[in-house]
Order: sequence, then structure tokens, then C-alpha cells
Amino acid sequence: MSSTPDFRFDGRVAVVTGAGRGLGRAHALLLAERGAKVVVNDLGGTKEGEGSDRGPANDVVAEITAKGGTAVADTSDVGSEQGCHALVDTAVAEFGRVDIIVNNAGISRFATFPEADADNLERTLDVHLRGTWHTTRAAWPHMVKQGYGRVITTTSTGMFGLPDNLAYATAKGALIGFTRSLAMEAAKHGILVNCLAPNAITRPSTSAAKPNITTTPQDEAQLQAMRTELVAPMMAYLAHEDCQVNGEILVAGARRFARWFLAVTPGHATEGDPTIEDIAEHWAEINDQTGYYIPENLYDWAGRFMRP
Ligand code: NAI
Repeated sequence: MSSTPDFRFDGRVAVVTGAGRGLGRAHALLLAERGAKVVVNDLGGTKEGEGSDRGPANDVVAEITAKGGTAVADTSDVGSEQGCHALVDTAVAEFGRVDIIVNNAGISRFATFPEADADNLERTLDVHLRGTWHTTRAAWPHMVKQGYGRVITTTSTGMFGLPDNLAYATAKGALIGFTRSLAMEAAKHGILVNCLAPNAITRPSTSAAKPNITTTPQDEAQLQAMRTELVAPMMAYLAHEDCQVNGEILVAGARRFARWFLAVTPGHATEGDPTIEDIAEHWAEINDQTGYYIPENLYDWAGRFMRP
């Protein structure tokens, strides 16, 4: 058991997108249990993003209120800019402010290249990338005005390489650039922006349409370790006022928490103008991970890379 003092969210208002099921539900339940007022957003469609259903959002609100918490359901579609604004408007109308945005809603349309078509790409970008962008942007003026905010985005280790779900991996990669860049702008307003890479058994990860994925747990102990509730504490830590982490990517699930970082090798610098042969000759040095560095941002990277 942790000896950390009670992390609470009394007086805080949290918006959790896609909170009717899976990880979002676990996020909403934990924040509400610790005192936050929660907007439980969920469109309620299939895992591919078809259709809608008020049931999942309403059920989670009922679950929270039955335990003495405070929550309101919202069924806006974060795949539309209008829906993202409506969602934040719900938080402000119901609870008077918005302190925490957990951008969690997601869909999964397994398709590789070139079968993954324009519709697959656009719909995936709409929910994961544009949904995060517009929801955060709608909350931004409120957070800037109050000089406080916590934004969580959700990426995926699929970004390490998931050819079976190409549009998904593409959208999740974009969220890392969004998180790291927005974090720099956010800090001066008392806002922190971090990215969560969860790992849990939910609808998409039990999909029959994942022929090449071999990471699915095989036994009961592994299934227990991959409960969504075991991811939520990292989300809540990043959402708490005591947290000072900004622009980072954290992997969470299966009872392990880790930092995921972007690093650059020291590489090889040529004396004169390089040739193709120089590249071939120094390939090992270019790739040598000894002494790699983790740039804080573009300017930090440029200072190191451009150094004579
Ligand atoms: P899930 O399918 O169980 O839950 C996602 C929820 O988002 C659903 O209830 C769905 O109705 C809702 N949603 C989808 N489109 C929406 C829209 N346009 N507007 C509002 N709500 C919408 O999936 P899961 O696994 O809980 O995923 C949550 C997030 O975590 C997603 O962003 C997913 O990509 C990410 N993730 C999950 C992993 C896992 O191990 N389960 C691994 C890596 C990332």
C-alpha cells in the first residue's frame, strides 16, 4: 500500500470523454470517488464508431451517484468540433468551471495499407486527434482564466508499430506532438498537459478482428492484471494539482508504470560537406545509442544537434 497522503479532487470539475465504458469509465469512477464533479461523456457507439446510445454514459453516472459522487451524463460526439464545445459547455453550465480534461474517447477500425481508406483515416483522426484538439481548445479559455488546468491525452503503444490498425497508430502518434507542444504553451497559465499510454483489456483489445496481435493475455492472472482500474491511478496523478509533470508520456497498466521518452543519438558529424558514402561508412555511429539525449523541446534539440 502507498504511504502517499490522500490525493483528492474536491472542488474540481473533470470532463472525461468516452467515459461510458472501458478506461474512461475507470477514470470517471476514480475521479468521482476522490471528490471531483465529473462530466461523463460518451456517444455510446460500436467500437468502430458506428451509431449512438445514451445507455453507457447514463449507467456510469448512475454508478457514481449511487456511491455518493457527483456526475452528469453527456452524449456529445467528440468527432465533431461542435460536440467538443457542447461537452465543455455542459461542464461549465452544470458545475461552473472545468479543471481537468481527460481526452480518452476512441474508436478502432482495424485495417492495414492500402485497405485503410480515406474514410477510415478521417473517422479515426476525427475522434482521436480532432476530438482531443477541439475539446482541449474549448476548455482552454476557462483554464487560462482560472490560471489552472490539467489536460490528459491518450496515446497508444500501437505507435511503436501496429500495421493492422494504421490510421489508429497514425492518430496516436500525432497526439504526442500535440501534447509536447501544447505543454510548453500551457505551463505559463498553470496548465499541465501530459499523455497517457494505457494497457488494459477492453472492447477494442478483445476484438476478433485483430488476427496478428499476440499480446492478448492467456490466463486469469494476466486478465486480472489488465483491469482498467489499474491504469486510472496514473491518469489521476497527472490530473492532480500536486502533479508538476508536463509534456510527458506515461505508460500504465498490468501493474506497471513507466516513462516513454523520445531520444536522439549523438550521431556523426562530418568535417566537410557529407556524401552518400559518408552516411554508409558511419551508419553504426549514427545509430549508436551510447550517450543519447532526451530533448526537452525543439530549441533544446537544436542547441545540441547544431553544436559544432
Ligand atoms: P472502449 O471502446 O472500451 O471505450 C471507448 C469509449 O469511447 C466508448 O465507450 C465509446 O462509446 C466512446 N467514444 C467513441 N467515439 C466517441 C465519440 N466520437 N464521442 C464520444 N465518445 C466516443 O475503449 P478503451 O480501450 O477503453 O479506450 C479508451 C482510450 O484508450 C482510447 O483512446 C484508446 O485508443 C486508448 N487505448 C486503449 C488501450 C487499451 O489497452 N485498452 C491501449 C492504448 C490506447
